[in-house]
Amino acid sequence: MRTEVAIIGGGPSGLLLSQRLMQAGIGTVVLERQSRDHVLSRIRAGVLEWGTVEVLRAAGAGDRMDREGQIHDGCWLSSEGERFRIDFRAACGRSVMVYGQTEITRDLYAAQDAAGAVIVHRATDVALHDLDTDRPRVTWTEDGQPRELTCDYVAGCDGFHGVSRQAIPAAARTEYERVYPFGWLGILARTRPAADELIYAAHARGFALSSMRNPRLSRHYIQVPLSDGPEDWPDAAFWDELRRRLPAEVAAGLEIGPSIEKSVAPLRSFVCTPMQWGRLFLCGDAAHIVPPTGAKGLNLAVGDVVYLSEALIARYRSGDAGRLAGYSDRALARVWRAMRFSWSLTMLMHRFPDHDAWERRMQDAGLDDLQRSDAVRRVFAEAYTGLPF
Ligand code: APR
Ligand code: PHB
Repeated sequence: MRTEVAIIGGGPSGLLLSQRLMQAGIGTVVLERQSRDHVLSRIRAGVLEWGTVEVLRAAGAGDRMDREGQIHDGCWLSSEGERFRIDFRAACGRSVMVYGQTEITRDLYAAQDAAGAVIVHRATDVALHDLDTDRPRVTWTEDGQPRELTCDYVAGCDGFHGVSRQAIPAAARTEYERVYPFGWLGILARTRPAADELIYAAHARGFALSSMRNPRLSRHYIQVPLSDGPEDWPDAAFWDELRRRLPAEVAAGLEIGPSIEKSVAPLRSFVCTPMQWGRLFLCGDAAHIVPPTGAKGLNLAVGDVVYLSEALIARYRSGDAGRLAGYSDRALARVWRAMRFSWSLTMLMHRFPDHDAWERRMQDAGLDDLQRSDAVRRVFAEAYTGLPF
């Protein structure tokens, strides 16, 4: 088999890249290790920057988002039960869209099906070869049979645990990492969201976040020790703990109900540089991970895909490979800024086991800055609603 761009991974990055390249008449093959049902069963964050909204619309995957998503003009921050609002529109003139990333993946699959995309599911043993030549190859196993694809370029969109990043020789890459000493226990419940907008709550007992998917589906998280698993948190204990950490008037009106999903996610910041090697280009979680605080994961992936697709389109339209050569630098400039935002929001809002009174005072002062200073709120709102592509 032969194609122009081989795409490893059929998550949001791989599907959106394939969609944008196909719209420009460039051939793609997507190789995904899991079944489609498995990919669509993963629950992820739910806040889209405005740039992401526009990219999804342009990709022909925005109709359901525009019908079912909710536009939010602000969010709540709270500290020890006192809350204040950050008005994104007042601070920076932009909003965000609240729409689940699982639904985006579903919409991208539908758009790819309509475009006649080649997406191979259950492709196991994917391996990349000859990336430092102008004829790279990808091999895999499908239904027990060995398969091979030759191509011009390989896009590594296979997430943090994929094979693409590992295909860059260790001596040619540098990895930066920060692992946080706690996790987020998340539940999904068919209940009314806690408030009209998201609430990020700092509390002596630990951080909490009340988010939502729609008016009858709420998504909540509490900070837990890394040693805790979902089995340690029966629904009643979860709701009790959430209520303690939220502002009192919100907790008083909180609708509770059985969880329909419950899981613990560790928090990590991670960046691999450079994001390219030979004919291989990394996008999304294959190259970087953010902690969920601030919901930057998918939004960063969309930025990468925009830059890589623009560079590939320039290469195929005019033979100009200059933008491809500059892909990693351009993508990383945006990645590091979002890394800093999600790291600083994580540091501001959580209880750290090794923090003393000094660090807690610094957190209080940081929240005070956000509450009192228009300038600080503007910096927050610009980063939250999305740095430009
Ligand atoms: N071969 C083929 N496919 C693979 C391999 C492999 N060796 N390893 C992983 N994959 C697939 C995974 O099964 C998954 O479907 O690659 C896909 C990667 O998808 P994500 O992990 O969702 O990563 P990405 O597409 O970059 O997503 C970007 O969107 O939903 C959010 O949290 C997500 O922040 C992330 C962002
Ligand atoms: C979510 O809705 O799952 C969500 C929202 C905002 C975040 C993280 C997760 O910062």
